[in-house]
Amino acid sequence: MLPLKIGDLEVPMPVIQAGMGVQVAKAELAAAVAKAGGIGCISSVGLGSREASENDYLADSHEHLVKEIRSAKTLAPGGIIGMNVMVALSNYDDVIKTCVEEKVDVIVSGAGLPLTLPGLAKGSNIKLIPVVSSGRAMKIILRSWHRRYQYMPDAVIIEGPLCGGHMAFTENQVLHPELAPIQNILNDVRAELAPFEAEYGKKVPLLGAENVVTADDVLEKLNMGFDGVHVGTRFICTEEAGIDIKSKEIYVNAKNEDIIVLHSPIGLPVKVLRTPLVEKLLNNEKIPFGCPFRCLRACEAKAAKFCIADALLDTLAGDTEKGLYMVGSGIGRVNDIIPAEEFFEPLKKLV
Ligand SMILES: Cc1cc2nc3c(=O)[nH]c(=O)nc-3n(C[C@H](O)[C@H](O)[C@H](O)COP(=O)(O)O)c2cc1C
Repeated sequence: MLPLKIGDLEVPMPVIQAGMGVQVAKAELAAAVAKAGGIGCISSVGLGSREASENDYLADSHEHLVKEIRSAKTLAPGGIIGMNVMVALSNYDDVIKTCVEEKVDVIVSGAGLPLTLPGLAKGSNIKLIPVVSSGRAMKIILRSWHRRYQYMPDAVIIEGPLCGGHMAFTENQVLHPELAPIQNILNDVRAELAPFEAEYGKKVPLLGAENVVTADDVLEKLNMGFDGVHVGTRFICTEEAGIDIKSKEIYVNAKNEDIIVLHSPIGLPVKVLRTPLVEKLLNNEKIPFGCPFRCLRACEAKAAKFCIADALLDTLAGDTEKGLYMVGSGIGRVNDIIPAEEFFEPLKKLV
């Protein structure tokens, strides 16, 4: 197993930990991963409290971002720290600006096409890593970045239909992942990259994101032709993940049969565990909510049956009745809460 090279950045373990909102992935988790030799990522979404966000969402979000980045760097001196910034955020530009000011090492950006990212991060040495789920999305990003900024992605994360989070797949593909195998997506993305790699004289590392729970899963992705992996679900059940222990226990006890595909308020399919909140939504109940801070640009708040930010803040607090448990298909194999470092132990013997 080789270290992952992203431009001049050498990552001892070819693993990026997914920046997971709301407060699953904060400084503590990112620092633990960075100390173990991977890239630790903070998710920029929902870092503030409900009350403070209602008063001044932009200012509160900025303040927490700065605090988390500085705290991660202090906890993991010399480690590689990144930020996950969803394109769907209403304060996207502001968050990227803060990442530049605070000098994070990498920015991972998905949940939409990050077409303006190189412009916003211009002048920095931050590695820019878009997330895609198809050759088509890759092509749009490559053409746009080339035309507007003469810039190539520093690495690319490829999500397959078994991954967690908001997904750029149809519900049918999520329910039948064999319709969109990640190996095919990898081949399509490679084909789109090839002419740009030739023109820029630069090879772009590709990271596979779905269903990586064990060291063997990492090796499987490397054998498929990926240069590394992007891991979410396994890191939810770590000591350093930011959510309440009651919520971690829901994840640890979950089986794959408990996974339901919901349509999130931003119009994308998302895998979640069957919990009391989800039962209500499946029964077509609407959970009343206000929308004081419009965190997601694409949120169809008027038509939505629930507020995803509210529900994820309840997950954070360990309210298992009201909480929403977003998940990837690997959850059935996650049966314990471990220190994040433990994920890397078997990998250390392979480098
Ligand atoms: C609880 C949870 C929260 C997530 N939050 C985010 C997020 O804030 N931004 C994002 O781009 N992706 C998010 N994702 C998707 C991950 O970044 C990642 O690509 C995916 O989960 C990888 O698949 P895996 O969970 O099978 O490891 C989230 C996933 C989960 C399970």
